[in-house]
Amino acid sequence: MHILVTGGAGFIGSNFIRYILTAHRDWLITNLDKLTYAGNLENLADVEGRPGYTFVLGDIADRAQVGELLGKQHFDAIINFAAESHVDRSILDASPFIDTNVCGTQVLLEAARAGGVSRFIQVSTDEVYGSLGPGDPPFTEESPLAPNSPYAASKAAADLLVRAYHRTYGLPAIITRCSNNYGPYQFPEKLIPLMITNALENKPLPVYGDGLNIRDWIHVEDHCRAIELVLLNGRPGEVYNIGAGCELTNLDVVRAILRALGRPESLITYVPDRPGHDRRYAIDASKIRNTLGWVPRYKLQEHLPELACWYQEHSAWWQRIKAGEYRRYYDVQYGQRAKASPQQEKGSDSA
Ligand code: NAD
Ligand code: TYD
Repeated sequence: MHILVTGGAGFIGSNFIRYILTAHRDWLITNLDKLTYAGNLENLADVEGRPGYTFVLGDIADRAQVGELLGKQHFDAIINFAAESHVDRSILDASPFIDTNVCGTQVLLEAARAGGVSRFIQVSTDEVYGSLGPGDPPFTEESPLAPNSPYAASKAAADLLVRAYHRTYGLPAIITRCSNNYGPYQFPEKLIPLMITNALENKPLPVYGDGLNIRDWIHVEDHCRAIELVLLNGRPGEVYNIGAGCELTNLDVVRAILRALGRPESLITYVPDRPGHDRRYAIDASKIRNTLGWVPRYKLQEHLPELACWYQEHSAWWQRIKAGEYRRYYDVQYGQRAKASPQQEKGSDSA
């Protein structure tokens, strides 16, 4: 199996690549990543040079480059993680979200069609369903799309394109919609790594609004195993919700982090709410549990002390990010980014 993973230098993509290269030692993975602010090859430092792994610097929205890559070699599957992924950034400027999440997905779909891939997996989000009230049942795959942020709207648009490419052209595409992830190598702008790293630095922990918004948390490895199952046994044209049934308010999460690190609650600082802030997400994952036998292994409350330790032990990793210096890794490994050819490859040549 030769898989094209896009966005593999980000949080979930890098965890997925590490997981797959360990679980399936004979699989080949090509990682196409633009290395935006969120793409960090340090996330994959232990994977680099492994047989079967190839990195390609590139943009999923670059039609010529994607066409050339898929024209040059056949991929059995494409798994599209590449995205602008942070809601707050989408509120400041939605344009890159449209370019990558919408146009980039369409470019990939077109290339997948021309390249005759056997599976196209669109890694989507529960945020496409919008927000739930306190007593509402969790989102099912049949819940209407009602995105509220520019990020969620761009992901919903991409989902509709994926659906259309399946219906119209018979592309064997599958959409997964997962809830909020936590785990190692998450960019410290997202709630959990931001709060852990701020607590470690004895900085204020900025809680939006009243802190009572609810998210449904899943460990990234459980998400990766779900995608693996969908890749192997999922049905084309289907949507699979992924969630571990772990609803917590933001305050619950922040307090648990402070407890795990032995830091005072006085670090909590209430800040103005996010515009259009979704109140509650909750996923009904019975479809993937019942049809593919997926079962999550982690519970956030039990795992938080271990996760906090991971960030404590990897302080050099996040400190370089917070200082904005992590990009140097690329320059050292691959030469100056600015001078890089449009398609610069590194790793074993698996063509
Ligand atoms: P991330 O922001 O950590 O990583 C995104 C990666 O995509 C980065 O490596 C970045 O360089 C790359 N990228 C961005 N634009 C690109 C482009 N035009 N071409 C090629 N690469 C590009 O994101 P993440 O948290 O790992 O999320 C991965 C995917 O999972 C996204 O599609 C996101 O919508 C989805 N998702 C995330 C969560 C979550 O909790 N993080 C939950 C559900 C779904
Ligand atoms: P985030 O990690 O940005 O994920 P998403 O908005 O995609 O669910 O935020 C998770 C929750 O935490 C969300 O309700 C917003 C809140 N939040 C804060 O209270 N403070 C922060 O500094 C951040 C980044 C998020």
